[in-house]
Amino acid sequence: MSDMNIILIGFMGCGKTTVGMALAARLGWAFIDTDRQIEEEQGRTISSIFEEYGESEFRSLEKQCVASLSRKTRQVIATGGGVVKDPENVRQLKRGGHIVYLELSPESLYDRVKEDDTRPLLKPYTGEAKLDRIRELLAERRSMYETASSYQVPCDGLNPEQTVDRILQILKI
Ligand code: S3P
Repeated sequence: MSDMNIILIGFMGCGKTTVGMALAARLGWAFIDTDRQIEEEQGRTISSIFEEYGESEFRSLEKQCVASLSRKTRQVIATGGGVVKDPENVRQLKRGGHIVYLELSPESLYDRVKEDDTRPLLKPYTGEAKLDRIRELLAERRSMYETASSYQVPCDGLNPEQTVDRILQILKI
């Protein structure tokens, strides 16, 4: 296990970054967030990458970032919510570690992102329309998260530390 990576996948707002940082701290491993890495490399925010160059350019930057990660071990990697849309990303991530799906209901996801306007795919929506958009996107992606992951962690009602406990139990670390 210690020669692998742990990769967190799941919908926007499911807690990949918060849980990932706490998990990495617990294990004494490095923490990588693919979105932050892309932002640092590009010197601009995800929103501005989407605005200036469009989603397809972001996806290609995301793919390059994922490809660069499997060379190292002992990393907790928080991915962007759309990373599973590309089967090659999933193949790369599976090769480098254990993929854990942080599963949350659309209502809980909505609660966490309702005030957030940094996510280009949800930014145009507010209130009920935002919840509907989350339901729609999650319906499109649920099976991708499920097939990509070796472990699924239902996170409704768990705080980040409790989620870390569950992940460590499931992975038997
Ligand atoms: C996206 C999720 C975002 C970010 C980008 C696209 C998606 O990451 O990668 O806005 O397609 O679900 P988070 O899941 O960290 O919000």
